[in-house]
Amino acid sequence: MNRSKIKGVGHYVPDRVISNDYLSTIMNTNNDWIVERTGIQERRWFTPGKDTVTSMSAAASKMAIERAGLEVKDIDFIVFATITPDYFLPGNGVLLQRELGLQGVGALDIRNACSGFIYALSVADQYIKTGMYKNILVVGAEIQSSALDKSDEGRSSAVIFADGAGAAVLGVSDSENAGILSTHLHADGDYAEELYCSDPGSSREVRISPEMIDAGDFFLKMNGNAVFKHAVVRFAEVIKEALDANQKDKSEIDLLVPHQANLRISNYIQQKLGLPDEKVFNNIMHLGNTTAATIPIALSEAWEQGRIKEGDLLCLAAFGSGFAWASALLYW
Ligand code: COA
Repeated sequence: MNRSKIKGVGHYVPDRVISNDYLSTIMNTNNDWIVERTGIQERRWFTPGKDTVTSMSAAASKMAIERAGLEVKDIDFIVFATITPDYFLPGNGVLLQRELGLQGVGALDIRNACSGFIYALSVADQYIKTGMYKNILVVGAEIQSSALDKSDEGRSSAVIFADGAGAAVLGVSDSENAGILSTHLHADGDYAEELYCSDPGSSREVRISPEMIDAGDFFLKMNGNAVFKHAVVRFAEVIKEALDANQKDKSEIDLLVPHQANLRISNYIQQKLGLPDEKVFNNIMHLGNTTAATIPIALSEAWEQGRIKEGDLLCLAAFGSGFAWASALLYW
């Protein structure tokens, strides 16, 4: 059986920088509160008319493909993780496929929110292992800012979520010592409404009505305390599961790339694992939480900064809406 390997990573973030001070001009918040509770100093929001989930993911994908030493035509499948597609239907995979000129290539959408990229990676990993595909584009991209309630009522999530895109090319590893060792996926739908967006939903007489718009039910809703409490437990569990499955010790991790939910959550996990700062990658400080895009953006930035080297043992871990959580252990 083949082993799959990440061959290249790329990312794109919108050029519109949203500072905490700017947010404090549109809602009742302030820089100190946001930095202390989330670690976020600034984030990027898309520019309407310029950025789309498709355009951002295409830019990230082209970068990943080039860094993999491949051409766009070498991609034979797309797995696209997003909960904020450009259209309600069809999914965003086909839109990226069209944008890249890959008509005919299969495209699958994954809707597992913050864990979406690891779920997508896991699916792609199975296809590479079985030999069904050779070079799969695995993408996480989101425009969250248009789903945020930017009034005082929505401020606890409005200061956290942001926009961006990341991509990885997953191909066949040519070495025993490189590639994905295992992926681990979990979910608990009992908590679906702790972080969700109910409208537009299908099980209504009409999907969108003026009443729904007035009620603001198309905004993202988050029970921050519940998310925090579950996240710290599940992150730790799923990282341990990945290490145990491969008889590795936490001290062998060269770089932990956690989903950028909240810097306090990442710091807590780091502390629990006893990892030094250089072994944990965080970029939430300047990019906020971009849901499915955080891990591929982080991988791309970490690679650019020389924080990932050939042969490094990487642990990816995520937790978010669903609740869904996941991890992956891999040699770069
Ligand atoms: N600015 C200023 N004050 C704010 C605020 C903001 N953006 N958002 C909430 N507050 C206020 C609350 O209204 C509350 O005021 P009160 O005491 O007068 O009622 C106070 O701050 C404390 O609110 P609380 O919700 O208890 O704060 P918290 O310490 O739990 O922090 C989160 C809120 C959202 C930062 C925190 O719960 C959290 O980090 N949760 C996890 C979120 C996350 O990771 N999401 C991504 C999942 S993938």
